[in-house]
Amino acid sequence: MPKWLSDAVFYEIYPQSFNDTNGDGIGDIQGIIEKLGYVKDLGCNAIWLNPVYDSPFMDAGYDVRNYKKVAPRYGTNDDLVRLFEEAHKIGIKILLDLVPGHTSETNPWFLESKKAAKNEYTNRYIFTNSVWEAPPEYRLMCGICERDGNYLVNYFSSQPALNYGFYKVTHPDWQLPYDHPDAMATAEAMKDIMRFWLDKGADGFRVDMADSLVKNDEEKIATARIWRDVREMLDEEYPQAALVAEWCHPERAINNAGFHMDFYLDHYGNGYSRLFRYVKDGENRAFFHKNGKGDITAFLDEYMPNLRDTHKNGYICFMTNNHDMPRMTNYADKETIKLAFATLFTLPGVPFLYYGDEIGMRYQKDLVSKEGGFSRTGSRTPMQWNSSKNLGFSDADECYLPVDNAPDAPTVENQSTDPNSIYKTVTDMIALRHQHKELGNDGKIEVIYGEKNAYPFIFKRGKYIIAVNPSSKDETVDFGFEVKATLYSFGKTKLQNKKLTTCASSFVIFEV
Ligand code: NOJ
Repeated sequence: MPKWLSDAVFYEIYPQSFNDTNGDGIGDIQGIIEKLGYVKDLGCNAIWLNPVYDSPFMDAGYDVRNYKKVAPRYGTNDDLVRLFEEAHKIGIKILLDLVPGHTSETNPWFLESKKAAKNEYTNRYIFTNSVWEAPPEYRLMCGICERDGNYLVNYFSSQPALNYGFYKVTHPDWQLPYDHPDAMATAEAMKDIMRFWLDKGADGFRVDMADSLVKNDEEKIATARIWRDVREMLDEEYPQAALVAEWCHPERAINNAGFHMDFYLDHYGNGYSRLFRYVKDGENRAFFHKNGKGDITAFLDEYMPNLRDTHKNGYICFMTNNHDMPRMTNYADKETIKLAFATLFTLPGVPFLYYGDEIGMRYQKDLVSKEGGFSRTGSRTPMQWNSSKNLGFSDADECYLPVDNAPDAPTVENQSTDPNSIYKTVTDMIALRHQHKELGNDGKIEVIYGEKNAYPFIFKRGKYIIAVNPSSKDETVDFGFEVKATLYSFGKTKLQNKKLTTCASSFVIFEV
């Protein structure tokens, strides 16, 4: 286990929209280098960088044309190496985004694979044996190329699935078993790409759709085997390199597949969504909502057993948001967001802060889809630095996406000096997390009060007790602890005769 993970706090950067230094309206690597000090000041000591590889950008770079080349619009490979070096100088690690499940349809491997004549890459993708063969249970693109066959896609139509074979082979004429040498060669090709960037100074990878490799592998047994092998390579050759899975199944990702971390993703109805974004029968029923209609047990019943089963082997990662989900400003007010983020930064696991969430950037509604963003586009708009042109993102007349044009658009400049800002809460909480090990990534958690359809939520981490009440009603519960000091609070709480009253919209950390 890379040691640095025990104190890691990540900042996710969507490179298109972070900082443009060459005036083309698109963020670049030099722009990230120039803002490393900003990331450090937030308290973050690691960055997850969304894909920066050469790509036609049909899916914002998750359609890789060349895994070993930085997209010219972001800079060069040397620029990326410089980013690693400059980040390391100030104690920041950089995870690249690895996209192992599919490539762009313009990737040279695919251009070869599409050819009628057999070649080294014929089996790098999954083709049926004839264009007339298109079993409906598979997502196939039909009649596209000279090769007589249809190919499987992994996500959008422009993203053909790489071939890691099938766990259950149902059509032996075109499906390779997962232990076929050609299927195993795909995994080796991915390892080669990983070594390429690790040798250049990358600190690991966030792995896109990590569970999607071997097909017909419902329990993900063969897929996990591939990642175990990758983990063995890391343990042997790059013991400080870290892997975080986009999987959302910690037992499989961490215990079976050997990932160091797994994201707790916002899947509708799961525990994470029940905390932050859940609407049922037209009513908001997220726990973090003023109307107080949430149910914390919907989160705890899922999270606590997962944590119990995996905490010895890795971390469950909470995120404020990411480039695939609407920003929290879309469904919660500022006070509620502060409560939600404060809580999130006191939970165990490795936290991830999505760029702009620290200043309360708004989800931009009604934007025309950009690079396969669709409804996600509104969460991918340029970072808002200050009051200058394009809010300091770029000098260009036209940007990758428009910046928030509201007169009160939050910026780093106006939020970092505001004592009531989300920025203040986030930076305070990250600082406390680094200062007090009990509040950090490894520490334990014990639920003190977490009742069905009730508020507040109270939990204990070492000698600290955290109580949060996002509802608009004061709530009083029995509280048998002797409080030595208040470490941090906002909103009001009252402690009297062994009863704790958490007033509407309040958060407190007691030392007991
Ligand atoms: C998950 C990524 O986060 C998302 O942005 C992308 O579109 C899909 N995987 C496909 O690669």
